[in-house]
Amino acid sequence: TSKALIIPAAGSGSRLGTEIPKPYLRLAGQTILHHSISRFLSLDGLSQVVIATSPQYIDRSEEILDNLLPASIVGICVEGGTERQDSITNALNKVGDVGLVMVHDAVRPFVNEASITECCKVASKVGSAVLGIPAKDTIKRIDEEQYVQETPPRKLLWQTQTPQVFQKQIIMEAYEQAASNNIEATDDASLVERLGKKIKMVEGNRSNIKITYPLDLQLAKQLINNEQ
Ligand code: CTP
Ligand code: MG
Repeated sequence: TSKALIIPAAGSGSRLGTEIPKPYLRLAGQTILHHSISRFLSLDGLSQVVIATSPQYIDRSEEILDNLLPASIVGICVEGGTERQDSITNALNKVGDVGLVMVHDAVRPFVNEASITECCKVASKVGSAVLGIPAKDTIKRIDEEQYVQETPPRKLLWQTQTPQVFQKQIIMEAYEQAASNNIEATDDASLVERLGKKIKMVEGNRSNIKITYPLDLQLAKQLINNEQ
């Protein structure tokens, strides 16, 4: 199956708080964005990579794609939007005629190739598949005042990662529906859930962290050293 990869990289990184936006920070000499895209390059059928980023970082992102992509893969950079969902919407507009669309956060440089392949395989069969890991902490739902409301059984709670992979027509429909009903979500799969379509969770790896807080960046430096 032909595949497009969408990389949202337009966030402000407010929780990390670095001057340079986090996809453009370096780990072992390369940007985090470079590492994240690299993980996908051995994947069968990858024909397109679309990065959504802030206007000031379009040139830098094009340079990263030029360095990384073989001639057989088309690289495109688009402007992101206010929310992650807006950034994905802009990127989806550039996706060509492919079977599967993968969405992967620019700030998850440690996803492994086997997990990506498995997620694509399951999405081809089921329609949609997302990587995740069983929650290690007990998770409680609270109210606005921080009073505990309920404790869902931990064995049914998984933390969702990326990539999230969809047959193209499914993610297109999900985003169109969200736009016409003003639905906001923090991941792509939740918009597909609203269509009532099946999504399968695929077990990923615990090192597939999202670099979000300063502690994650410290861990990322350790993890990249272990790989060198
Ligand atoms: N992202 C995006 N467009 C936005 C917001 C986020 O493309 N308007 C991207 C980020 O660049 C990141 C991914 O979505 O690669 C996951 O988001 P997150 O970790 O929340 O990054 P930020 O939004 O940048 O960080 P924060 O929420 O701490 O401000
Ligand atoms: Mg954010």
